[in-house]
Amino acid sequence: MYDGANWAKETIVKIEKKMKEVVKRSCHKIPYTTTDGIHDDWTEKNICWWTNGFWGGMMWQMYHLTGDESYRKAAIEVEEKLDANLLNHGGMDHDSGFKWLPTSGANYRITGSKEAYNRTLLAADNLAGRINLAGGFIRAWNDADDGSKAGWAIIDCMMNIPLLYWASEQTKDPRYEQIAKLHAKTVMENFIRQDGSVHHIVEFHPVTGEFITAHGGQGIEQGSSWTRGQAWAIYGFVLSNIHTKDAVYLETAGKVADYFMKNVRENGAVPVDFKQPESCPWEDSTAAAIAACGMLEMARLMGDEGKKYYDAALKLLHFLVENRCNWAKETDHIVEKCTAAYHDKEHEFSIIYGDYFLIEAMLKLTGQELFIW
Ligand code: GLY
Repeated sequence: MYDGANWAKETIVKIEKKMKEVVKRSCHKIPYTTTDGIHDDWTEKNICWWTNGFWGGMMWQMYHLTGDESYRKAAIEVEEKLDANLLNHGGMDHDSGFKWLPTSGANYRITGSKEAYNRTLLAADNLAGRINLAGGFIRAWNDADDGSKAGWAIIDCMMNIPLLYWASEQTKDPRYEQIAKLHAKTVMENFIRQDGSVHHIVEFHPVTGEFITAHGGQGIEQGSSWTRGQAWAIYGFVLSNIHTKDAVYLETAGKVADYFMKNVRENGAVPVDFKQPESCPWEDSTAAAIAACGMLEMARLMGDEGKKYYDAALKLLHFLVENRCNWAKETDHIVEKCTAAYHDKEHEFSIIYGDYFLIEAMLKLTGQELFIW
């Protein structure tokens, strides 16, 4: 097995060299993907889009690593732009953790800014308000006020509830944590299958809270295993353990991580759905980077018992860094072959959260990460 920390140091040097150039070209943008290797301006399309926190998160991680002011300025710009989302009720959904933990939350952790604290707490209040008490779940997406998605919960939300843990830790008001734990319990009981795989979407009756059905969501179909959803579950449950110290969350993360490890391709590549046909070559590198982050945290928490998760994370990251990363200074993205959803028309392109989680994973390996979740 590789010497993780030393190998990661070499990769971090490559990240630093590349990001120094990229930040000069990407100012005033909230990138989502690249066209011909250069970042598109996603902000103009939709300021409420769920991925709009990741560029800011990359900037804070790079600022934390290097102290270079250009990263801090770029991060603050994103945070300020996101105020348009905070004031748009229809644009507020369960993804507040993804948007405000890597931006205002990270800012507050580093600088103690009162404005950043205010933004993060407002986002937490909105997320807490999405709890459905009959079903014990946080509502995921909005609809056209026809209630058609009022009963929908999705696995990704396990990454958003750390915003609620953060709010309880800051305010000493237990309500936020109570809501997060209620949601996590519902997910453990309704999303995790016998073999450790997870549903993407579960639909509950919004009035009675009864389980109605599961949907395949961004994976192939009902009962399939969308890999990014598996990765959100691993990292999300580990984070619930970190914030609450409840062992049941770490056990749950372990169950999903064991399933993930059993199904990764021999060479370390991660498909879009573990149940996609052998003949389908599509990959999702984001799932690999996210799962690796979760497994590295598991290894840290579990000591010797967690060695298998450390090794599995290194295998995933080694494959990404050697085969799926673009280190050319002329291109803006790092991670390639990312896929948003199996049934989308396009597959295997650059997506900003692939870069974010790759950077976070590398910094975890060397102990230089700014913990934002
Ligand atoms: N949270 C949406 C996704 O992972 O695509």
